[in-house]
Amino acid sequence: MQRHYQKNCNHTNTLVRRNNVNDILTLKKKGEKIAALTSYDYSTSLICDKAGVDIILVGDSAGMVMLGYKSTMPVGIKEMLVFCKGVAMGTKRAMVVADLPFGSYQPGVGAAIKNAIRFIKVGCDAVKLEGGTEVVDTIKALVSMGIPVMGHIGLKPQTSSLWEGYKVQGKTKNSSQKLITEARALEQAGVFSIVLEMVTSEVAKIISENLSVAVIGIGSGAGCDGQVLVLHDMLGIYEDIRPKFVKRYADLSNSIFQAVSLYRSDVKSAKFPEEENVFHMNSNEYRELQKNTTKK
Ligand code: KIV
Repeated sequence: MQRHYQKNCNHTNTLVRRNNVNDILTLKKKGEKIAALTSYDYSTSLICDKAGVDIILVGDSAGMVMLGYKSTMPVGIKEMLVFCKGVAMGTKRAMVVADLPFGSYQPGVGAAIKNAIRFIKVGCDAVKLEGGTEVVDTIKALVSMGIPVMGHIGLKPQTSSLWEGYKVQGKTKNSSQKLITEARALEQAGVFSIVLEMVTSEVAKIISENLSVAVIGIGSGAGCDGQVLVLHDMLGIYEDIRPKFVKRYADLSNSIFQAVSLYRSDVKSAKFPEEENVFHMNSNEYRELQKNTTKK
Protein backbone atom coordinates (compact mmCIF):
# COMPACT_ATOMS: atom_id res chain seq x y z
CA MET A 1 0.00 0.00 0.00
CA GLN A 2 1.44 3.35 -1.04
CA ARG A 3 0.90 6.13 1.49
CA HIS A 4 1.54 9.83 1.10
CA TYR A 5 0.90 12.73 3.44
CA GLN A 6 -0.52 15.97 2.09
CA LYS A 7 -1.12 19.28 3.88
CA ASN A 8 -4.85 20.03 4.06
CA CYS A 9 -6.40 23.51 4.44
CA ASN A 10 -5.86 23.44 8.25
CA HIS A 11 -2.15 22.81 7.57
CA THR A 12 -2.30 19.41 9.24
CA ASN A 13 -1.23 16.24 7.49
CA THR A 14 -3.88 14.12 5.77
CA LEU A 15 -3.15 10.56 4.80
CA VAL A 16 -3.46 10.12 1.04
CA ARG A 17 -3.58 6.53 -0.09
CA ARG A 18 -4.31 4.58 -3.21
CA ASN A 19 -7.66 2.94 -3.95
CA ASN A 20 -7.71 -0.67 -2.88
CA VAL A 21 -10.01 -3.54 -3.89
CA ASN A 22 -12.59 -2.52 -1.28
CA ASP A 23 -12.69 1.10 -2.57
CA ILE A 24 -13.31 -0.10 -6.13
CA LEU A 25 -16.07 -2.49 -5.05
CA THR A 26 -17.63 0.28 -2.93
CA LEU A 27 -17.88 2.46 -6.05
CA LYS A 28 -19.85 -0.32 -7.75
CA LYS A 29 -22.10 -0.80 -4.70
CA LYS A 30 -22.81 2.95 -4.58
CA GLY A 31 -23.62 2.95 -8.30
CA GLU A 32 -20.77 5.40 -8.99
CA LYS A 33 -19.15 4.74 -12.36
CA ILE A 34 -15.48 3.76 -12.25
CA ALA A 35 -13.11 5.81 -14.43
CA ALA A 36 -10.01 3.94 -15.59
CA LEU A 37 -7.30 4.93 -18.06
CA THR A 38 -4.03 3.47 -19.18
CA SER A 39 -0.74 5.20 -18.44
CA TYR A 40 2.80 3.98 -18.98
CA ASP A 41 4.98 6.67 -17.40
CA TYR A 42 5.51 8.98 -14.44
CA SER A 43 4.41 12.24 -16.12
CA THR A 44 1.05 11.10 -17.50
CA SER A 45 0.23 9.08 -14.38
CA LEU A 46 0.68 12.27 -12.32
CA ILE A 47 -1.92 13.95 -14.54
CA CYS A 48 -4.37 11.02 -14.50
CA ASP A 49 -4.05 10.76 -10.73
CA LYS A 50 -4.57 14.51 -10.24
CA ALA A 51 -7.68 14.33 -12.47
CA GLY A 52 -9.19 11.76 -10.09
CA VAL A 53 -9.08 8.63 -12.24
CA ASP A 54 -9.98 5.63 -10.02
CA ILE A 55 -7.78 2.99 -11.70
CA ILE A 56 -4.61 3.43 -13.76
CA LEU A 57 -3.93 0.40 -15.91
CA VAL A 58 -0.39 -0.12 -17.14
CA GLY A 59 -1.74 -2.01 -20.14
CA ASP A 60 0.34 -4.18 -22.42
CA SER A 61 -0.93 -1.78 -25.10
CA ALA A 62 2.30 -0.06 -23.99
CA GLY A 63 4.05 -2.40 -26.39
CA MET A 64 2.19 -0.76 -29.27
CA VAL A 65 1.92 2.88 -28.24
CA MET A 66 5.28 3.23 -26.48
CA LEU A 67 7.47 0.75 -28.34
CA GLY A 68 5.84 0.53 -31.78
CA TYR A 69 5.13 -3.22 -31.79
CA LYS A 70 2.33 -4.22 -34.16
CA SER A 71 0.40 -6.06 -31.43
CA THR A 72 0.50 -6.47 -27.66
CA MET A 73 2.09 -9.89 -27.94
CA PRO A 74 5.83 -9.05 -28.15
CA VAL A 75 6.07 -6.81 -25.09
CA GLY A 76 8.09 -8.47 -22.32
CA ILE A 77 8.19 -8.44 -18.54
CA LYS A 78 11.30 -6.27 -18.29
CA GLU A 79 9.76 -3.63 -20.57
CA MET A 80 6.46 -3.70 -18.65
CA LEU A 81 8.28 -3.42 -15.32
CA VAL A 82 9.91 -0.15 -16.44
CA PHE A 83 6.52 1.31 -17.42
CA CYS A 84 5.01 0.12 -14.13
CA LYS A 85 7.81 1.69 -12.06
CA GLY A 86 7.19 5.08 -13.64
CA VAL A 87 3.44 4.89 -13.07
CA ALA A 88 3.87 3.71 -9.49
CA MET A 89 6.12 6.73 -8.82
CA GLY A 90 3.47 9.15 -10.12
CA THR A 91 0.31 7.69 -8.57
CA LYS A 92 -0.90 8.62 -5.09
CA ARG A 93 -4.64 7.93 -5.18
CA ALA A 94 -5.61 5.65 -8.07
CA MET A 95 -5.22 1.88 -7.96
CA VAL A 96 -2.34 0.84 -10.23
CA VAL A 97 -3.03 -2.36 -12.17
CA ALA A 98 -0.22 -4.07 -14.09
CA ASP A 99 -1.10 -6.03 -17.21
CA LEU A 100 0.74 -9.36 -17.16
CA PRO A 101 2.31 -9.60 -20.63
CA PHE A 102 1.88 -12.58 -22.93
CA GLY A 103 4.19 -15.40 -21.83
CA SER A 104 4.40 -14.30 -18.19
CA TYR A 105 1.48 -16.37 -16.86
CA GLN A 106 0.80 -19.01 -19.55
CA PRO A 107 3.68 -21.34 -18.51
CA GLY A 108 1.87 -22.23 -15.27
CA VAL A 109 0.73 -21.13 -11.85
CA GLY A 110 4.29 -20.94 -10.48
CA ALA A 111 5.45 -18.60 -13.24
CA ALA A 112 2.31 -16.46 -12.84
CA ILE A 113 2.88 -16.03 -9.10
CA LYS A 114 6.61 -15.30 -9.51
CA ASN A 115 6.00 -12.72 -12.24
CA ALA A 116 2.99 -11.10 -10.58
CA ILE A 117 5.10 -10.55 -7.44
CA ARG A 118 7.66 -8.64 -9.55
CA PHE A 119 4.93 -6.17 -10.52
CA ILE A 120 3.69 -5.79 -6.95
CA LYS A 121 7.27 -5.19 -5.80
CA VAL A 122 7.71 -2.23 -8.18
CA GLY A 123 4.62 -0.59 -6.66
CA CYS A 124 1.55 -1.98 -8.47
CA ASP A 125 -1.58 -2.82 -6.50
CA ALA A 126 -3.04 -5.57 -8.68
CA VAL A 127 -2.42 -7.52 -11.87
CA LYS A 128 -4.59 -8.14 -14.93
CA LEU A 129 -4.53 -11.20 -17.14
CA GLU A 130 -6.49 -12.26 -20.20
CA GLY A 131 -8.60 -15.40 -20.41
CA GLY A 132 -11.71 -17.26 -19.26
CA THR A 133 -12.03 -20.71 -17.71
CA GLU A 134 -8.46 -21.64 -18.76
CA VAL A 135 -6.97 -19.09 -16.31
CA VAL A 136 -9.22 -19.88 -13.34
CA ASP A 137 -6.57 -21.94 -11.49
CA THR A 138 -3.97 -19.20 -12.02
CA ILE A 139 -6.36 -16.55 -10.66
CA LYS A 140 -7.20 -18.68 -7.60
CA ALA A 141 -3.49 -19.17 -6.87
CA LEU A 142 -2.67 -15.44 -7.23
CA VAL A 143 -5.59 -14.38 -5.05
CA SER A 144 -4.67 -16.97 -2.40
CA MET A 145 -1.21 -15.35 -2.30
CA GLY A 146 -2.87 -12.00 -1.60
CA ILE A 147 -2.49 -10.54 -5.10
CA PRO A 148 -5.64 -8.81 -6.36
CA VAL A 149 -6.52 -9.87 -9.92
CA MET A 150 -8.47 -8.15 -12.69
CA GLY A 151 -9.73 -10.51 -15.43
CA HIS A 152 -10.06 -9.66 -19.11
CA ILE A 153 -12.53 -11.38 -21.46
CA GLY A 154 -14.33 -10.59 -24.71
CA LEU A 155 -11.75 -9.52 -27.23
CA LYS A 156 -8.39 -10.71 -25.89
CA PRO A 157 -5.76 -8.74 -27.81
CA GLN A 158 -2.86 -11.04 -26.81
CA THR A 159 -4.31 -14.00 -28.74
CA SER A 160 -7.36 -12.81 -30.74
CA SER A 161 -5.30 -12.00 -33.82
CA LEU A 162 -4.16 -15.64 -33.95
CA TRP A 163 -7.75 -16.93 -34.06
CA GLU A 164 -10.70 -14.87 -35.26
CA GLY A 165 -9.06 -11.42 -35.45
CA TYR A 166 -10.29 -8.27 -33.73
CA LYS A 167 -14.06 -8.84 -33.75
CA VAL A 168 -16.96 -7.73 -31.58
CA GLN A 169 -17.81 -10.50 -29.09
CA GLY A 170 -21.24 -11.70 -27.94
CA LYS A 171 -23.33 -11.14 -31.04
CA THR A 172 -25.18 -14.47 -30.83
CA LYS A 173 -27.03 -16.20 -28.00
CA ASN A 174 -24.41 -18.98 -27.80
CA SER A 175 -21.38 -16.69 -27.77
CA SER A 176 -23.11 -14.44 -25.22
CA GLN A 177 -23.83 -17.36 -22.93
CA LYS A 178 -20.17 -18.40 -23.17
CA LEU A 179 -19.10 -14.89 -22.11
CA ILE A 180 -21.54 -14.90 -19.18
CA THR A 181 -20.24 -18.32 -18.06
CA GLU A 182 -16.64 -17.10 -18.33
CA ALA A 183 -17.40 -13.95 -16.33
CA ARG A 184 -19.05 -16.05 -13.58
CA ALA A 185 -16.05 -18.40 -13.52
CA LEU A 186 -13.68 -15.45 -13.08
CA GLU A 187 -15.85 -14.03 -10.29
CA GLN A 188 -15.85 -17.40 -8.51
CA ALA A 189 -12.08 -17.65 -8.93
CA GLY A 190 -11.74 -14.42 -6.94
CA VAL A 191 -11.16 -11.52 -9.35
CA PHE A 192 -12.24 -8.12 -8.01
CA SER A 193 -12.85 -6.76 -11.49
CA ILE A 194 -13.22 -7.84 -15.10
CA VAL A 195 -12.37 -5.91 -18.26
CA LEU A 196 -14.87 -6.61 -21.04
CA GLU A 197 -13.36 -5.65 -24.37
CA MET A 198 -15.52 -5.10 -27.46
CA VAL A 199 -18.52 -7.01 -26.10
CA THR A 200 -22.03 -6.13 -27.30
CA SER A 201 -23.62 -3.64 -24.92
CA GLU A 202 -26.54 -6.01 -24.18
CA VAL A 203 -24.26 -8.77 -22.88
CA ALA A 204 -21.98 -6.32 -21.05
CA LYS A 205 -25.01 -4.92 -19.20
CA ILE A 206 -26.23 -8.40 -18.20
CA ILE A 207 -22.76 -9.30 -16.87
CA SER A 208 -22.40 -6.00 -14.98
CA GLU A 209 -25.86 -6.31 -13.39
CA ASN A 210 -25.46 -9.93 -12.36
CA LEU A 211 -21.93 -9.95 -10.99
CA SER A 212 -20.70 -8.45 -7.74
CA VAL A 213 -17.24 -7.62 -9.18
CA ALA A 214 -16.49 -4.31 -10.95
CA VAL A 215 -17.02 -4.69 -14.70
CA ILE A 216 -14.90 -2.24 -16.67
CA GLY A 217 -15.82 -1.90 -20.33
CA ILE A 218 -13.79 -0.90 -23.33
CA GLY A 219 -15.98 -0.73 -26.41
CA SER A 220 -18.71 -2.53 -24.45
CA GLY A 221 -21.30 0.21 -23.91
CA ALA A 222 -22.61 2.33 -21.08
CA GLY A 223 -24.09 -0.48 -18.99
CA CYS A 224 -20.72 -1.46 -17.50
CA ASP A 225 -19.72 -0.41 -13.98
CA GLY A 226 -16.89 1.63 -15.42
CA GLN A 227 -14.91 2.46 -18.53
CA VAL A 228 -11.29 2.22 -19.58
CA LEU A 229 -9.57 3.70 -22.62
CA VAL A 230 -6.01 3.74 -23.86
CA LEU A 231 -4.74 7.21 -22.89
CA HIS A 232 -2.94 7.73 -26.20
CA ASP A 233 -6.15 6.92 -28.12
CA MET A 234 -8.36 9.35 -26.20
CA LEU A 235 -5.72 12.08 -26.34
CA GLY A 236 -5.30 11.58 -30.09
CA ILE A 237 -1.58 10.79 -29.87
CA TYR A 238 -1.57 7.25 -31.27
CA GLU A 239 -2.83 7.26 -34.84
CA ASP A 240 -1.93 3.78 -36.18
CA ILE A 241 -5.36 2.39 -35.24
CA ARG A 242 -8.60 4.35 -34.58
CA PRO A 243 -11.14 2.02 -32.97
CA LYS A 244 -14.82 3.12 -33.29
CA PHE A 245 -15.32 2.90 -29.53
CA VAL A 246 -12.71 5.57 -28.73
CA LYS A 247 -13.91 9.08 -28.00
CA ARG A 248 -11.19 11.60 -28.78
CA TYR A 249 -10.94 14.17 -26.00
CA ALA A 250 -7.97 15.98 -27.56
CA ASP A 251 -5.94 16.14 -30.74
CA LEU A 252 -2.51 16.06 -29.15
CA SER A 253 -0.83 14.55 -32.18
CA ASN A 254 -1.64 17.71 -34.11
CA SER A 255 -0.80 20.01 -31.19
CA ILE A 256 2.57 18.29 -30.66
CA PHE A 257 3.29 18.42 -34.41
CA GLN A 258 2.55 22.18 -34.49
CA ALA A 259 4.74 22.81 -31.45
CA VAL A 260 7.67 20.74 -32.73
CA SER A 261 7.48 22.39 -36.18
CA LEU A 262 7.46 25.85 -34.60
CA TYR A 263 10.43 24.94 -32.38
CA ARG A 264 12.35 23.67 -35.41
CA SER A 265 11.74 26.84 -37.38
CA ASP A 266 12.59 29.05 -34.34
CA VAL A 267 15.93 27.24 -33.97
CA LYS A 268 16.68 27.51 -37.69
CA SER A 269 15.88 31.23 -37.74
CA ALA A 270 17.63 31.89 -34.37
CA LYS A 271 14.37 33.10 -32.78
CA PHE A 272 14.97 30.63 -29.97
CA PRO A 273 16.45 30.92 -27.36
CA GLU A 274 15.18 34.38 -26.37
CA GLU A 275 16.57 36.67 -23.66
CA GLU A 276 14.30 35.08 -21.01
CA ASN A 277 15.80 31.65 -21.73
CA VAL A 278 19.43 32.71 -21.30
CA PHE A 279 21.83 32.76 -18.29
CA HIS A 280 24.36 35.63 -17.93
CA MET A 281 27.76 36.05 -16.33
CA ASN A 282 28.49 38.71 -13.77
CA SER A 283 29.40 41.79 -15.94
CA ASN A 284 32.78 42.40 -14.25
CA GLU A 285 33.73 38.79 -14.67
CA TYR A 286 32.70 39.02 -18.28
CA ARG A 287 34.90 42.12 -18.90
CA GLU A 288 37.85 40.31 -17.34
CA LEU A 289 37.20 37.29 -19.44
CA GLN A 290 37.00 39.40 -22.58
CA LYS A 291 40.37 41.03 -21.82
CA ASN A 292 41.95 37.57 -21.76
CA THR A 293 40.18 36.19 -24.74
CA THR A 294 40.16 39.12 -27.19
CA LYS A 295 42.28 38.28 -30.19
CA LYS A 296 45.44 40.38 -30.43
O1 KIV B 1 -3.49 -3.21 -22.70
C1 KIV B 1 -4.45 -2.47 -22.49
O2 KIV B 1 -4.37 -1.25 -22.62
C2 KIV B 1 -5.71 -3.09 -22.11
C3 KIV B 1 -6.92 -2.22 -22.18
C4 KIV B 1 -7.30 -2.05 -23.59
C5 KIV B 1 -8.02 -2.75 -21.36
O3 KIV B 1 -5.75 -4.23 -21.82
